[in-house]
Amino acid sequence: MLNPKMEAALNGQINAELYSAYLYMSMATWFDQKQLPGMAHWMRVQTQEEMTHAIKFYTYVNERSGRVTLSAIEGPPTDWKSPLAVFEAVAVHEAKVTGLINGLMDLALKLKDHASASMLRWFVDEQVEEESSAADVVGKMKLTQKDSSGLFMMDNELGARVFTPPVWLTL
Ligand code: FEO
Repeated sequence: MLNPKMEAALNGQINAELYSAYLYMSMATWFDQKQLPGMAHWMRVQTQEEMTHAIKFYTYVNERSGRVTLSAIEGPPTDWKSPLAVFEAVAVHEAKVTGLINGLMDLALKLKDHASASMLRWFVDEQVEEESSAADVVGKMKLTQKDSSGLFMMDNELGARVFTPPVWLTL
């Protein structure tokens, strides 16, 4: 049985993951409007990843006989000043999510909830990858500043991203 404090915190994280999906979908619409389809595609793949994160928490709460409760998702920003600014916002957002995951892990350890700590370890590792991929794109985008052919090449590169559903994903 899930501790009520852990249940509430995990439900909060489901909301945070759905917000992440919504934020990246908003960024996808921005890139579509700027005629950068590869970057829009990258953001849509990111949206799908965030949905899988929400579902992983959802499934876990159910498995522990907890109750999933969905709450309102905040509206995301809709405009940024440049493609680089969008990816910088991704990096800032992912650092924030890492803080949330670390907070959940702190709570699990405090409650001696070893099952939750074990599940959260996957997210701790995932956040290393999430922050690293955002930093990688920001670094490359900085090299393409004021170079439209570089931006075009980046758009092509990011357009090749493929969404791979995790093996544990069941809908
Ligand atoms: Fe669900 Fe991008 O962290």
